[in-house]
Amino acid sequence: MKIPILRLEYTEEEIKAIQAGIKDVLKSGYLTMGNKVAEFEKAFAAFTGIKYALATNSGTSSLEIILRAVGVAGKTVVMPSNTMMASPAAVVHAGGRVIFTDCDKENLQLDPGDLKKKLRADTKAVMLVHIGGIISPAFDEIKEICDKNGVALIEDAAHAHGATIDGKQAGTLGVAGSFSFYPTKVLVAAEGGMITTNDEAIYKKAVSLRDHGRAPDDPNNHVEIGYNWRFSELHAVLGIQQMKKAQKILAERRKIAGWYDKKLEGVKSIRKVKIPSNVKSSYYKYIVFLDDNIEREVIKKKLKEKYSVSLTGEVYSHPCHSQPAFKKYPGTVANDPADTFPQTEYVAKKHICLPTYPGLTEPEVDYVVDSLKKVLS
Ligand SMILES: Cc1ncc(COP(=O)(O)O)c(C=O)c1O
Repeated sequence: MKIPILRLEYTEEEIKAIQAGIKDVLKSGYLTMGNKVAEFEKAFAAFTGIKYALATNSGTSSLEIILRAVGVAGKTVVMPSNTMMASPAAVVHAGGRVIFTDCDKENLQLDPGDLKKKLRADTKAVMLVHIGGIISPAFDEIKEICDKNGVALIEDAAHAHGATIDGKQAGTLGVAGSFSFYPTKVLVAAEGGMITTNDEAIYKKAVSLRDHGRAPDDPNNHVEIGYNWRFSELHAVLGIQQMKKAQKILAERRKIAGWYDKKLEGVKSIRKVKIPSNVKSSYYKYIVFLDDNIEREVIKKKLKEKYSVSLTGEVYSHPCHSQPAFKKYPGTVANDPADTFPQTEYVAKKHICLPTYPGLTEPEVDYVVDSLKKVLS
């Protein structure tokens, strides 16, 4: 057997539907920001249960637009160090400075205790990143900290399409949420992002920022310094196709995770991430911790070379606070140089992500687990 990092599966029927959608676009005369983008946005709003959904050309763009709309320029934004570089980079591009927090080493999510310590008078927003598709079990506490301090809660939900906590959807938990449709993500449109918000003022500002800061009533009147963050009709065709099967994709990811849950029971030298029953992960990643004496790179190498099992990328192996870019531009980070991130550093070294993409069969999951057991022993 061979288990690749990712399989993108489109049935013949889906390919035909996509081809028909592309034909519609070509015949419509609108290659960008037309009916297909509107249809994708409408479908995503319905999926998330949000008032406004706004498509952009990437998850990084959608984050930056939200940060600009909230007004982080000249202010600080607190976020976990354990995230993808796009999260802090969006803050810097929006004119803000980043303050990194540690994470909870049990679930990889932002540590609320450290968040309390890191908030400052000039903090405008907290960015909560649903790492691996898990919404922090400490969400209520994090929200309360934000509310008490008058700080906007922004979700980086790039991993978390369809994830919930107490039945509430990722993307609806703060002032605005940002999603990505990069090919490895839960829902895919080749490239793309989505902003979700119930706040009309943020929505209107985001609409303007996405297209060069145009005024709503006069496209040649520019009221913001925006950018070209528009979304193309061709990408929207792919997005619409994914929305049609979004629930199926989530159900399949959760079914695969359920297989791992059972089959990894009692396996020595590993520990599964504990997700409480009020949190439903999107299972962007199925995360497992390795015992302290086990080297991740050795396990990955042996799995690949001996058993042709490729593990997916970690979330994350290189914490943001230690990225060379921030050493090069130290003014972009507002942490105290004495700050430490012990839990983040543990997570960075000690977790692996097992293949979880739709289409993976139960015998393949058996094979991954058996190969892992052999390599561990
Ligand atoms: C946590 C996180 N935030 C933001 C992004 C940025 O998304 P995109 O690649 O669509 O710009 C990613 C993408 O990998 C991500 O993983």
